[in-house]
Amino acid sequence: MAQLWGGRFTKETDQLVYNFNASISFDQKFYKQDIRGSIAHVTMLAASGILTEAERDQIIDGLNSILTDVENGTLEITSKYEDIHSFVEANLIDRIGDTGKKLHTGRSRNDQVALDMKLYVRDEIVEIKALVLELMNTLHSLMKEHIHTYMPGFTHLQKAQPITLAHHFGAYMEMFKRDYGRLCDIYARMNYCPLGSGALAGTTYPLDRELTASLLDFAGPTLNSMDSVADRDYCIELLSALSTIMMHLSRFSEDIWNTNEYQFVELDDAYSTGSSIMPQKKNPDIAELVRGKTGRVYGALTSLLTTMKGIPLAYNKDMQEDKEFTFDAIDTVKGCIALFNGMIKTMTVNKDRMEASAKNGFTNATDAADYLVNHGVPFRDAHGIVGELVLTCIERNISLDELPLDDYKAICPVFEDDIYLAISMEECVNKRNTIGAPGPEAMNKIIEINEAYLKDLNK
Ligand code: ARG
Repeated sequence: MAQLWGGRFTKETDQLVYNFNASISFDQKFYKQDIRGSIAHVTMLAASGILTEAERDQIIDGLNSILTDVENGTLEITSKYEDIHSFVEANLIDRIGDTGKKLHTGRSRNDQVALDMKLYVRDEIVEIKALVLELMNTLHSLMKEHIHTYMPGFTHLQKAQPITLAHHFGAYMEMFKRDYGRLCDIYARMNYCPLGSGALAGTTYPLDRELTASLLDFAGPTLNSMDSVADRDYCIELLSALSTIMMHLSRFSEDIWNTNEYQFVELDDAYSTGSSIMPQKKNPDIAELVRGKTGRVYGALTSLLTTMKGIPLAYNKDMQEDKEFTFDAIDTVKGCIALFNGMIKTMTVNKDRMEASAKNGFTNATDAADYLVNHGVPFRDAHGIVGELVLTCIERNISLDELPLDDYKAICPVFEDDIYLAISMEECVNKRNTIGAPGPEAMNKIIEINEAYLKDLNK
């Protein structure tokens, strides 16, 4: 047991209490951020005349040597220390002696951990953004490739109207654009430095908080020292954004139509798994795991919201519970985005199956009704007439484009030979060119917008 706070105690901590209280097993994840924060802190202490330049340099060298040794594996982070902050400080004192004891001047672990968590989350937001961007790049190329790949669009899981695969992927593209925007917003809102807030009430040293903030690339210092040590809103916001990303990936997983019935796409062997008993099986485990792990990320959000709701100002130890779930959610989402990206990038699209499925599901029925409307039939009557035609087709097990003209005319004489062109998949899609619709004219405009959007982000 190595603790920073033995002075006022007359007894050793009970071992079970120590274990229950310790956070080193998980907060070691931000050793880099802890050291980075300490280097900024002593740089500021020296600039403010609280430490000498010689002391500053000695401490910074010591901190850097700890960083190097942890990274090359010669210094192990062990449970001998209560938390990562104690580990770094104790090792610093071991290495440089008494000067090391000055590191914690004008600082509390409350503002220190608030800083470490913020630095960690900020770094992770950058990485998650890069992964979402990669996924959007993949979707963008798939959209360009599939402007004329016809397929049924669904409502209520029933075939509804013909769309294209570009249009379908485009829907997910919009979701991930919003996800990306949310990550940017969170970053901007959280980007204020809590260090220098002390335990809760600031410090009596003349700390230059503006300097610390700029050394750590923050937009500025936080403005209330109690809020600084008590705020975990940014973790909650991130978990909410991550939950939304997972919700999107989970819906997408439902939508990859890899079933034997659909066969719209075939997943690459490298992204599929087999069965131990059924030799024929090729299962979409990646998509299923992504869908499954969504619950885990929602769990993190619910957990932290619940933890935070009962905490009076300012710091309370409950807040140590912010870490494990947040770390797990971040790692889970990063893995899911990367794998999902690989999966859709490598899958084969079965264009013929998609088009045939759109045709035999009467997705062109609305267009047959629109044909009548264009020939002066009121829409409600047209709806009824086409309904009858659909019934006839169902009885004969054929599609609308296989029904002879005589049968069309028998139900409504307005139909002429050009009905077949009007209800062809190509025509049905090509005519839909309102903003955001699947028609090629409309689709090309959106692709252009996305091209400019991605070009800017990929810079
Ligand atoms: N491990 C603690 C946490 O994660 C660090 C802060 C400890 N502060 C304290 N007053 N005990 O929240």
